[in-house]
Amino acid sequence: MYEPLYSQITDSLVNDGYVIIENALDIVLGKELRDISKNIRHYKNAGISHNSILDTERRKDKIKWLDADNEITCKYLDFTTGLKNYLNRHLYLGIRYYEAHFSLYEEGNFYEKHLDAFKNSKNRIVTTVYYLNEDWNADNGGELIIYDKNNMQIQKVIPNANTLVIFMSENFPHEVLAVKVNRNSIAGWFRIDEKI
Ligand code: OGA
Ligand code: MN
Repeated sequence: MYEPLYSQITDSLVNDGYVIIENALDIVLGKELRDISKNIRHYKNAGISHNSILDTERRKDKIKWLDADNEITCKYLDFTTGLKNYLNRHLYLGIRYYEAHFSLYEEGNFYEKHLDAFKNSKNRIVTTVYYLNEDWNADNGGELIIYDKNNMQIQKVIPNANTLVIFMSENFPHEVLAVKVNRNSIAGWFRIDEKI
């Protein structure tokens, strides 16, 4: 059922390296995922691993890893599993698995400009971000800014419900601007290493 979407994503990754799709998935699924994200009681402070010290100055969001432990997250993971297979079949990416977490940015939270693929460890090769916020107001901040390899800004994404962003992890520095209200999303990565 996702074939047209997979093919659109694949073509864009080949041509541009990234894609931004509004109204990407089933709107009901988007709402159900949003409800789950709002009901998570044990978000953890996210940190960037840096010499085993958590660098919470550069990144202020909270996360909860997403598991296939209920019907709704399974539906989301069905979409990403299908995409994994499609990308492997058409682009020979050799993706082994997908990992994802719910993210919560609260008032004042942001994520400084970064790359998702750590240097010299090409484990994360494709990034996905799926937004869960209904009626995001332009004054709320929290836009995702995407840069190209020369650090020129190429996109500003409003984190609206059911918008899906996908990009090649090594090629696009990006940042999340500070938010004024809670911002919910699912960030995920297709990886080529062995799952531990
Ligand atoms: C990340 C990230 C972007 C976003 O979690 O690595 O860059 O818009 N998220 O939430
Ligand atoms: Mn990122």
